[in-house]
This record gives sequence, structure tokens and C-alpha cells, in this order.
Amino acid sequence: MIYYPLNTLIKAGIKEILIIVSPERAGDYLNLLGSGKQFGVRLTYEIQDKPGGLPEAFLIGENFIDNEDVTLILGDNIFEDDLSEEIKRFKTGGKMFAKKVSDPERFGVVKFDKNMKATRIVEKPKEWISDYASTGLYVFDRRVVEVAKNLKPSGRGELEIVDIQNWYLEKGELEVAVVDGEWIDAGTFDSLLRAQNLAKEKLQDKLVI
Ligand code: G1P
Repeated sequence: MIYYPLNTLIKAGIKEILIIVSPERAGDYLNLLGSGKQFGVRLTYEIQDKPGGLPEAFLIGENFIDNEDVTLILGDNIFEDDLSEEIKRFKTGGKMFAKKVSDPERFGVVKFDKNMKATRIVEKPKEWISDYASTGLYVFDRRVVEVAKNLKPSGRGELEIVDIQNWYLEKGELEVAVVDGEWIDAGTFDSLLRAQNLAKEKLQDKLVI
């Protein structure tokens, strides 16, 4: 699974990649991917001791990010579309990728006004607010590390990526790109199976690694 999100980054020309893993799985990733030299990139690794929310990536990765813009992709997020041009076009602020789904309650959801302008991102809303999920691909400028440092844990005890997205949105600096092709967060058995089928039918021949 990890090859597909890595592929998304590498295709976009990203050559310095930090992989954040749990202590239990770190060895597996290191064995599989090594230094990244064989893919023409440099891989480094950090351990996340306990799951504390996605924004921890920017805290764990502060030295790695080193005051530059940064792209984050979740290790179970698989995109059919080639998003490399969208990633490369990023200039400043924040950028997120939304996808129309039939099960928005599983995700961060983007609320739009009647002109399709994003007004808020809500993590797993109990009541329906929109069909557009926030996918697990994000680009932020260097301010994201400071924003992450000032976050407070949510009701589920984790730092929330939607709070970072809303920080940029409130400043009028969040770009929302809509993804047309298939997107899978392979976090359930059903979606894992869909991911396997998508990989087999459409994606495996397009891997650059
Ligand atoms: C996370 C984010 C959520 C996003 C999703 C995408 O959810 O919190 O906003 O929509 O990834 O895959 P999680 O997978 O941690 O439940």
C-alpha cells in the first residue's frame, strides 16, 4: 500500500521524504524501502510513539521540514489521478484535495456555501453537511509547524488536521482542489479490497517506483 502514496509524492518531484511510523512497524518499512536511493529519493524515518493525530507529523517532522513548504500524504490514501501538477502549482498558504463520496461521515468534510466556496472543514460530522471529503493529501507553507504547535487536542484526544485547514481557511489562504478520479482511504476491509482492485486494474503499471 505504501508504494502508492509514495508514488504520488515522487511523481510530483518531491525528493526528500520523511516516513513517520509506529515503533511496532518501523522495521518493516525500513526493510521494504531502505534509503530510497533505488527510487531516486532520500527517505528518512521518525517514530510516532502513540497515535496523537495527523498534525503531530509537523511536530515530529519539524527539523526535517526545516522552514520549508511541506506536503503530507497519509500512508493508506490512494489516488487514481496524477496530482503532480496540482502539487507543483502550490505557492503559499494551504492546499487540500476534496472528493465527493457516499460516506462523508467517515472523514473530514468540507462545507461549501452556495457559490461552492469552502466555509469550514468539520471532522467526521454527525449530521450531514456535504458530500465532499477531505482526502489525506495536504500541502502547507512553512507556517504549518507553528500552527500545529498551538493546537489543542479535540474531544477524541488527538490533534486534528481540520483545525490546521480551518486556520488557513479563516485567513482566506486555503485552496480546495476537487479530485475527479477515484480516491480510497483504505482504512476499512471494504475500502482495502477496492484499493487492491484499483491498483490491479489501473495503477500498478503507472508506478514510478
Ligand atoms: C484523517 C483525517 C480526516 C481525513 C482522513 C482522510 O482521518 O482526520 O480529516 O478526511 O484522514 O483519509 P482518520 O483516517 O484519521 O480517521
